[in-house]
Amino acid sequence: MIDQATVGKIIESTEIISVIQEFVPLKKRGVNYLGLCPFHNEKTPSFTVSPAKGIFKCFGCGKGGNAVTFVMEHEHITYWEALKFLAHKYHITVEEKEETPEDIALKNERESLFIVTAWAQKYFSETLHASKEGNAIGMAYFRERGFREDIIEKFQLGYCTDSRDEFTLTALKNGYLIEYLVKSGLTIQKEDKVFDRFSGRIMFPIHGISGRTIAFGGRTLRTDKTVAKYVNSPESEIYHKSRIVYGISHAKNTIIRQDKCFLVEGYTDVISLHQAGIENVVASSGTSLTVDQIRLIKRFTNNITIMYDGDEAGIKASLRGIDLVLEEGINVKVLLFPDGEDPDSFSRKVSSSELLEFISKNETDFILFKTKLLIGETKSDPLKKAGLINDIVQSVAVIPDKITRAVYLKECSTRLNVEEQALYSQMNRILRKKTRDKHNIPETPADLVQKSGTNYQYLFSDKESNEVHEREIIRLLIRYGNSPLITGEDKHELSVGEFIISELHKEEEILEFRNPLYRKIFEEAGDLLRVGYILNDAHYINHYDENIGQLAVDFIAANYPLSQIWRKRDIFVETEEARLNDLVPECIMAYKNRKVNELMKENAEKLKTTTSDQEMNDLLRKYSVLKKINMELSKVLGERTIS
Ligand code: CTP
Ligand code: MN
Repeated sequence: MIDQATVGKIIESTEIISVIQEFVPLKKRGVNYLGLCPFHNEKTPSFTVSPAKGIFKCFGCGKGGNAVTFVMEHEHITYWEALKFLAHKYHITVEEKEETPEDIALKNERESLFIVTAWAQKYFSETLHASKEGNAIGMAYFRERGFREDIIEKFQLGYCTDSRDEFTLTALKNGYLIEYLVKSGLTIQKEDKVFDRFSGRIMFPIHGISGRTIAFGGRTLRTDKTVAKYVNSPESEIYHKSRIVYGISHAKNTIIRQDKCFLVEGYTDVISLHQAGIENVVASSGTSLTVDQIRLIKRFTNNITIMYDGDEAGIKASLRGIDLVLEEGINVKVLLFPDGEDPDSFSRKVSSSELLEFISKNETDFILFKTKLLIGETKSDPLKKAGLINDIVQSVAVIPDKITRAVYLKECSTRLNVEEQALYSQMNRILRKKTRDKHNIPETPADLVQKSGTNYQYLFSDKESNEVHEREIIRLLIRYGNSPLITGEDKHELSVGEFIISELHKEEEILEFRNPLYRKIFEEAGDLLRVGYILNDAHYINHYDENIGQLAVDFIAANYPLSQIWRKRDIFVETEEARLNDLVPECIMAYKNRKVNELMKENAEKLKTTTSDQEMNDLLRKYSVLKKINMELSKVLGERTIS
């Protein structure tokens, strides 16, 4: 047995091409790879592998699947063995679990808990419908609240009689073991006495995703404030309250169909909304919303609308929920019911169509929600307005997707009448801090790097021309990393940093910088851009590596002389910034061109002298890669000669 987290990690790390290539030679054909099918005899290849989809398919014999099934089929091994094989390939440590007696016991324990819980659910429902007390108290309460019979059935509501131990004694009489009654939380054992946890309460079974009962919430019918309104099952092997939402088994299909999920506070909110015809609704009941609960919802949709009470607690919970949901990359809307109302009470006051209309009219995105909430008190107070803006930008900053962030900042800029640029710098500050915290990068004061005496030049190699080129690229990266660059016919916008990284990344190994300091800057910039970090002056000036800080100060200092490359070519650049569109691509091309020519020469020399077959093969392979880049470059550079 391999635990689920490790299975996920193995599958994520697996690249189907490299897995299959261990067994079958593949050739690239367009976006796919082609080879001779290992599962049947063929002379012309019909075995296709798609790296993008992560699947293989043979059009000759029809076999197909993913990397795991390929290894299973090819090696005639089990699923678990195939996973282990892949884990080994990708150096993932597998917490190997042979099923120990404890595992088996645990599995049996889970099964036993499910069984006793299912029985309890039936028993509570029967009590509600068939017993005198259940009818007179439980049923009467539901009727008074207006719960329809079909809804009571659907949610399997029940009643536990108001006796100290009637439920437990019946369970024991029916052969259920006290051990599982206690472990499931249905029974409380004190010394040699047993008590029903839920006595005198109406019962809300909590269902797992597949619809099995895993726990209960029990509501008291007393108005006595000293009695807890709800008692919930404790955590058990089958119930982890932070990982389940109430109502998910009833809601999941509608959530998928409508691509949207309403999130409410309580059991009764879920039930009343169902009764009003809204079925894509769940509650985080019993806990404040957790990340695991959001991820559970995310399996079904990317759109969540939080519907909480309009009271202070509800607002506070909504604000917290917003950031949690945004952080998972989910679109969030908020809807508050009028103060004193919750979805349950409100849905009972109005008709279904009025309810739907209320929802669609009052659902707002989180910016508007926060704005409305805070604008009253901030109208004339600039400090408070700044606080509001900061608050909103904080929320935007947690969104993982860069484009979504941009959309929201634009929105926010219009609505609050603040310059977009100001919002960006605010957000970047937050993002920077987050990355710094995440990577544990110490925050160095700017003046630390400015202290004299440190000289990065000792890192320079003696190959002047190479050094000049590399330095120029790094200078552009540091100086203008965040500036926009318009590239290509489609006028696609990239930042200078993104352009440099992507251009040199294509042939990374071959085009690697010689200067280790530049190499470090280049690699770090790539990593940072990938996590959505924005490169700017401050990042480099405040860099924890003094050498980088020093270099940045040098570049950013006002009168930095224009690079030799451009002077040599007699380009008079008045403002460099205005010419980035030409400058950056040219600089990259020039670098590649010179470097590739140099490497080709080197390669040719080595070929003359080598005596080893292995080395000759390597050199030839490298030569063909270089030649390819060289051809591409001459296409771009055309007749122009670049020194
Ligand atoms: N809750 C809980 N324990 C409590 C109070 C509340 O676990 N002591 C949880 C329950 O899941 C409940 C939700 O928080 O459903 C919302 O609480 P509340 O609005 O007080 O309860 P409702 O379910 O709305 O019940 P009712 O409408 O009967 O007041
Ligand atoms: Mn409520």
